[in-house]
Amino acid sequence: MWTGDDLQRLVKRELSDYRLLVVSNRQPYVFNLDGAGKLHGQMPPGGLTAAIDPLMRACGGTWIAQSSSDADLAAMDDYGRIPVPYDSPAYRMRLLNLSEEENNGYYYGFSNEGLWPLCHIAYTEPLFDSEHFGFYQSVNRRFADLVLDEIADEPAIVLIQDYHLALLPRYIRESNQDAIIGQFWHIPWPNPDILRICPWQDEILDGMLGNDLLGFHLSGDCQNFISCVDANLDAQVDPDYGLVDYRNETTLVRPFPISIDFDSLDAEARTGEVEAEMVRLSRELGLNRGRILGLGIDRQAYTKGIPHRLRAVERLLEKWPQYRGRLVFLQAGATSRTNIDSYMQLTIDIEAIVCRINERFGYDGWQPILYWPTTLPSHTFSALRRLASFCAESSLHDGMNLVAKEYVASRVDEDGVLILSAFAGAAQELTSSLIINPYATEQFADAIHQALNMSDLERRMRMRQMRNTVQENNIYKWAGRIMMNLMQASTPDHSRLAASVASTA
Ligand code: G6P
Repeated sequence: MWTGDDLQRLVKRELSDYRLLVVSNRQPYVFNLDGAGKLHGQMPPGGLTAAIDPLMRACGGTWIAQSSSDADLAAMDDYGRIPVPYDSPAYRMRLLNLSEEENNGYYYGFSNEGLWPLCHIAYTEPLFDSEHFGFYQSVNRRFADLVLDEIADEPAIVLIQDYHLALLPRYIRESNQDAIIGQFWHIPWPNPDILRICPWQDEILDGMLGNDLLGFHLSGDCQNFISCVDANLDAQVDPDYGLVDYRNETTLVRPFPISIDFDSLDAEARTGEVEAEMVRLSRELGLNRGRILGLGIDRQAYTKGIPHRLRAVERLLEKWPQYRGRLVFLQAGATSRTNIDSYMQLTIDIEAIVCRINERFGYDGWQPILYWPTTLPSHTFSALRRLASFCAESSLHDGMNLVAKEYVASRVDEDGVLILSAFAGAAQELTSSLIINPYATEQFADAIHQALNMSDLERRMRMRQMRNTVQENNIYKWAGRIMMNLMQASTPDHSRLAASVASTA
């Protein structure tokens, strides 16, 4: 099993003189000033930072991202750098300040109203606007300038994160032939018929082929990407080895299913702080009076299937009245991207469904649905995961879904049932979950009923299998495989490359 120490040793051995740079839109720590003027650094919600922070803590280096709070200014030095984590620095952030106009065009506009719905099959129409794309290009250029300045012609490995920065690899490559560049795409990749909707598909593909290594979660995403390149660009592709030759450069395209730091979530779930929180929550939620808890945790996005999940709970209560007065379903997790119409509409829809179900079934102080659209402390999330008889993750389409893996890691008692959408990448690994189709409300409600009636033995057997899988395929293994493949991707001998890559798959 991979540990942070293994990763650190590997990176020291493989990286030798190379400097490590991570680039993402979202910064790994957001700063705020408390009433006494003291700075605090907090991790934002979402899978990306949770996944890469352990790598950076293990390896050191610089993480370049967009600045998102005024307090960042108070924390940074004259070069825009901030050592993080603030109380025990292990690496440094370097932040880019964007104007509101730039952020509206690049982040809200092209990234989240265009690429996000394009890549997720959730039937929300992508919006493609030339002005947004202009900002996407110019902001990607600004990120490239910062990366090039940070590299300063020294040997460097640049690890780019996600769909906000599809053009960045090409922009870096234009000015620096020597850097080793890799990118991990944290969301699904569409097939050529869907990509065609994007008026700038060729430029996006060209940008991403500036990478030596391009990672997706699933092999299906890699195949889709290679098919898109084959359909649109004058490139040679080898789908069997995941290789693309284009502009006399080779990009290796490989799947790396992302994961979590299993051991630290497991350890947190065993702490006194979490146990005390479990006692408090049991009282608050009535679990100490025989109620049972179902849980959904998500950054609030229309791809997560939250209304579908609530409709399944409603159907459960219709079909099996014995759960009335007993089951409490808690939907938790912060709202996000609230400037975008489709996200605002989602909040309105969720609130309306919660009201409808609670009015329909609630009585004597019992409400079937609790809705906490806010960020909670990590020990509270851990306690909720430990208390929940089932956790339902019902994404309409999801690159991976780390919440499913976090639920499994927190179940140190090997109890609890995971109900998981077939359309989340995690369903390919967590095969002992109850796999559902979120659109099939009846089947989904039946799965909740099955979860609540499963024998102790079966629950434990399924949870034990999933815990073994997540413990084995942890975040350090994910990061280690990416680093090994990146070093190998930079060698010109592709046959050696393909062979060594196949052996680490
Ligand atoms: C997804 C994306 C990440 C993003 C996260 C949070 O997981 O793949 O890149 O950071 O959502 O979204 P936000 O828009 O708040 O950064």
